[in-house]
Amino acid sequence: MKKILIVGAGGIGQHLFDRLKSQGFHGWMTTQRDRQVFKRSWLKTKKPDAVFVAISTPDWDKGRAAEYYILSCVEAGIPVITCEKGALAYHADVLKPHLGKIGFSATVGGGTRMLKYVQGKHLANRQVKISAVINGTLNFIFSQMSCGTTLDESCRQAIQLGYAEPGADDPISLINGELRDVLMKTCVFFNTVLATDEIITPDYFGKFELTTDDLESLNQVGKDYRLIVSFSNHPKPQVSQTFGEEFSLHSHDGWHITGGFRQISHTPQLYSWLPGGVGNAVNIVDGELGSGGEYTLSGPGAGREPTTSAMLADLAELCP
Ligand SMILES: NC(=O)c1ccc[n+]([C@@H]2O[C@H](COP(=O)([O-])OP(=O)(O)OC[C@H]3O[C@@H](n4cnc5c(N)ncnc54)[C@H](OP(=O)(O)O)[C@@H]3O)[C@@H](O)[C@H]2O)c1
Repeated sequence: MKKILIVGAGGIGQHLFDRLKSQGFHGWMTTQRDRQVFKRSWLKTKKPDAVFVAISTPDWDKGRAAEYYILSCVEAGIPVITCEKGALAYHADVLKPHLGKIGFSATVGGGTRMLKYVQGKHLANRQVKISAVINGTLNFIFSQMSCGTTLDESCRQAIQLGYAEPGADDPISLINGELRDVLMKTCVFFNTVLATDEIITPDYFGKFELTTDDLESLNQVGKDYRLIVSFSNHPKPQVSQTFGEEFSLHSHDGWHITGGFRQISHTPQLYSWLPGGVGNAVNIVDGELGSGGEYTLSGPGAGREPTTSAMLADLAELCP
C-alpha cells in the first residue's frame, strides 16, 4: 500500500486525503511548520512514497515554504506533487532543473492539465499566440455578472463555493487576491512551458491590483469583460482594449506577455473559445494568421474536485 504525505490540511489537503483513502492509499496530513521535523522525521523516518504540497502562499512568503518542501523531496528522491503556485512563480530558477520529478499540473488551469497540453505542442520554435483564462474564480464572477448577478453577490457565491483563494472575505480582497494568483500562474506558465533561457517572477510585472473606484466601475461594466492572459512571440503582437491597467512584459527570448480585463464585445476572436462559469481555457493560434491551426483546451478551472483530480493524475504519472 502506498504511503502519501500531504503537507497542508486545508480545503485541498482534506479533499486529497479523502480521495486517497477511498482509493486504498495510506495518507496522512500535516501543517507542521518545523522544517527539520519535515526533513528528518517525515521524509527520512516515515519514508512516504510521494508527497503532496497543498499549502497557501502568504504574500510575505513568496512560495519559499513550498520551495523548501519540494526541494527536500527532490533531494530525498521522493516524487512531489504541488498545487501551490508561489514556488514555481518565484523560485523556478532553483526548481526548473528538477521539473521531471515534480507534478505541477494543478498549479495552472485547474483540472484541465493545460500546462501538459501546451508542453505537448512543442511550440518553442513556432510563431504563436497563446491566450488563456487561467483564473476560474474571476471567470465565474464575470460570467455570473453577464447573467445579471451583481458583483457583490457573485463574489459572495465564489467564496461560498470554495473557489476563492484563501483569505478573501470581501470583493476587493477577493479580486485582488485572484489578480495576484493570475500573476503567479502567468509566471508558472511561462517558466515551465515556454521559457528557454529566462525565468520571470511576479515582481517583474509590478503591482496588478484594483482600487475601490475601479471596482465601482467594474460593477457597471464587468459583464462585458474577462481576464485574459496572452503570450505571443509574433514580432508585432496585436494590442487589445482592456479595462484599467494591464500587466505586460517583453521577455529576452522574444515573448510578449500581457494580461488584463479584455472587452468581449470588442474582441470577437474570444467568442469561439471563452469558457463559461468557473472554467479555464487555453487557445493556441499557431503560425501567421493561424496557418498551423488553432487549438483549444477547456475545462473546470478551480475547486477541490478538479484540482485534486489533476494532482492524482500527476501522482499516477510520477509513481506508477
Ligand atoms: N481551492 C482551489 O480551487 C485551488 C485550486 C488550485 C490551486 N489551489 C492552491 O492550493 C493551495 C491550498 O489551497 P486551499 O484552498 O486548500 O487553502 P487553505 O484551505 O487555506 O489550506 C492551506 C493549508 O496549508 C497550511 N499551511 C500554510 N502554510 C504552511 C506551511 N508553511 N507548512 C505547512 N502547512 C502550511 C494551512 O495551515 P494553517 O491553517 O495552520 O495556516 C492550511 O492547512 C493554495 O496554494 C491554493 O492556491 C487551490
